[in-house]
Amino acid sequence: MKALVLSGGAGTRLRPFTYTTPKQLVPVANKPVLSHVLENIRDLGVREVGLVVGDRAAQIEQAIRDGSEFGLRVTYIPQQAPLGLAHAVLLAADFLRDDDFVMYLGDNVFAEGLRAAAASFHQRRPDAHLVVAKVSDPTSYGVAEVGPDGTVQAVVEKPAQPRSDLAVTGAYFFTPAIHQAVRMIEPSRRGELEITDAIQHLIATGHPVTVDRYDGYWKDTGQVEDLLECNRVLLDRLSPAVDGQVDDATRTHGCVVVQEGARVTNSHLIGPVIVGAGATVHNSRVGPYVAIGRECFIGDSTVQDSITLDGAAVRGVHQLRHSLIGRRAEVRADRRTAHRRLILGDDTQAEVPA
Ligand code: TTP
Repeated sequence: MKALVLSGGAGTRLRPFTYTTPKQLVPVANKPVLSHVLENIRDLGVREVGLVVGDRAAQIEQAIRDGSEFGLRVTYIPQQAPLGLAHAVLLAADFLRDDDFVMYLGDNVFAEGLRAAAASFHQRRPDAHLVVAKVSDPTSYGVAEVGPDGTVQAVVEKPAQPRSDLAVTGAYFFTPAIHQAVRMIEPSRRGELEITDAIQHLIATGHPVTVDRYDGYWKDTGQVEDLLECNRVLLDRLSPAVDGQVDDATRTHGCVVVQEGARVTNSHLIGPVIVGAGATVHNSRVGPYVAIGRECFIGDSTVQDSITLDGAAVRGVHQLRHSLIGRRAEVRADRRTAHRRLILGDDTQAEVPA
């Protein structure tokens, strides 16, 4: 079996971060989402990965290289524009050839991996096997309608009156039958070749399509709230490890990870919390649910439920919460007034005291 990982896309919902960083490289629990994806793929015993990349290809290649760090062989498949998930399958035809494959969206996190779903695909070998998850609001997802025999009767995009609460997630197992289906469909109203249309075509032409219900933690990290939630869940699964320096004046509680070269002085770390390599925390209270990136500086501050990306600085700020701070960004308190000035880039969101 091969894997096709989709790491192109526009990432409009994660602006401004996605102006400079592809969303698949935004870290949760100090590891890019795409690294979590590739580790899960390796755990399926897959070695050959086709990585679909868009206009942020250079950064993804710089981070993942040939995939050997993950025990994988990565082939890059450039996509000129985000023309849809089924378009990515079309582009990858030469790479995938006659092999079965798992298609995995590069911004999706499956915290318990996908081994059970892969095993049931191998056992039954339907032409499409969809990983689905029970959701409370099916109207904002692609929804799978499953018949009494367990096969999928329809996949409906964002139904107004959903007939099931099973959302289609970002992992799909396919036999080569999908290649014919993606050639038969037309672009949708939003101008994309939709994978749901290709799956619908398989169903209409009598190909078996089945589902595997995922009961673990699944998240599509398309928006800031999703990243913060995912960060909390993955931080909860870390094991404590202190490789950096923590001075005697610092108190720690719960699961604390301090990575190599980090320095923590006169502070209070409340786990789960991870302090990235080379970061400095001084005179601060950090946690719970905080991931501090590499080479960050946190001084005289209180930070909770937040992610600071590499090189960010937080100085003299009390009550920084539920925040995602970009690479090399600086948040600074000014004691003279409530706030003195804001310099905000396009699409930035700032919440300040009224
Ligand atoms: P989406 O989240 O559906 O699309 P997007 O990345 O354009 O995001 P937004 O809606 O915020 O603008 O994409 C799911 C995953 O598939 C994501 O990792 C990007 C990837 N993708 C491609 O590689 N090629 C494509 O043509 C599309 C549509 C998505």
